[in-house]
Amino acid sequence: MQRLLRKKANSIFTPSYIYDKSLIVNNLSFLQRKFAPCNADIFFAVKANTSLSVLKIIKELGAGAEVVSQGEVFISLKAGFKPEKILYNNIARKEEEVLYAIKRGVLYFNFESVDQAILLERCAKKIRRKIKVFVRINLGIFPDTHPHLSTGSPRSKFGITFDELKNNMSIIKKFKFAKLIGIHSHIGSQILKPAPFVKGVKKVEEVLVFLKREGFDITHLNLGGGFGVPYHPDEKQLDFKPIVNAYKNLYKKYGVKIFLEPGRFIVANAGFILTRVISVKQRNGIPLYIVDAGMTENPRPALYEAYHHINLLFGKKGRKFKVRVAGPLCENSDEFGVYHLPELKIGDLLLIHNCGAYTRTMASNYNGRLLPPEYLFDGKFRIIREKQRFENLIENEKY
Ligand code: LLP
Repeated sequence: MQRLLRKKANSIFTPSYIYDKSLIVNNLSFLQRKFAPCNADIFFAVKANTSLSVLKIIKELGAGAEVVSQGEVFISLKAGFKPEKILYNNIARKEEEVLYAIKRGVLYFNFESVDQAILLERCAKKIRRKIKVFVRINLGIFPDTHPHLSTGSPRSKFGITFDELKNNMSIIKKFKFAKLIGIHSHIGSQILKPAPFVKGVKKVEEVLVFLKREGFDITHLNLGGGFGVPYHPDEKQLDFKPIVNAYKNLYKKYGVKIFLEPGRFIVANAGFILTRVISVKQRNGIPLYIVDAGMTENPRPALYEAYHHINLLFGKKGRKFKVRVAGPLCENSDEFGVYHLPELKIGDLLLIHNCGAYTRTMASNYNGRLLPPEYLFDGKFRIIREKQRFENLIENEKY
């Protein structure tokens, strides 16, 4: 892709998002192949990337969609996902959000508290349509990732505790429309070691045995997403073998259908931000390069001190220096970090890597900046979203 991008560079706007279709296809096919022995279905976590063009590629490969809001239900249906291939999770929803989804045929929902379980039953009863429900358990596991991404830890707001579930069995047993068919767990995101996943399976099994004993016909386990990707060249790929073995054993022992909901793994390395150096100065003896992309296009460095690899589109020979690369926004945290790069000049084009997940979906208009255009590379560069217009910045305002 980079070779062809060098040829086309003049016709591509900066900053912009560029997705390489072949990498999305490779990543999803890889997971489908790996987890085939586990009787697993994959639901893409739409929060990682909501581009219709990206979603369509994923849908074409047979995956479903995992959504966490009414808006994501809307987008997923627009992208062509069948409602029965949409899994609607969230820590808490309002009645109108649940009704919206049920009316459109969404079939799978999770709950993470007793009041939310009751809400699901009430909504399904109102429309007189049966839905299939998963209970998300807080497994109390530290998955060895950034605290913001550690959703399975005991202090995290997510999931219901096993004790709370046990104490409320009588309520859930009475449900006629929101039938409990599965257990849901998602211990965290950007996990690069297999051990937390394997540990999670043991806890899920305890809950499974308990619910079966209580008389529930648990036919599904949604084991979440969270598969990490190497952002830094020194990081290693996640070893899937122990995870596949653990999931396969669960399937073999209990005959359950396994659901997985990865986001990042499918799209992160397929997305790049193309950006241009727009100012050069020295700070404390090292060059500080200001580029035209920043925390508005990729807020991950500001939020999680995340590293995103950068390379020059047109490589340069010669010495590399320790340099800082920052965005143009009025905030100190708008900085990508410290890199080793050749000497740069204004106008040089840089590619920021691993920008396919949690960048465009967390982008903002801060500082009055317009959301950038997006391109899909499928042998050719196609524009899949135009750059925002100034009018969009004041849209819906009454003045
Ligand atoms: N399932 C549930 C219930 C989730 O909460 C998440 C992510 C996923 C699946 C997908 O996880 P993945 O496979 O993408 O790791 N903004 C952060 C990531 C937040 C993840 C939130 N939940 C970031 O930029 O790293």
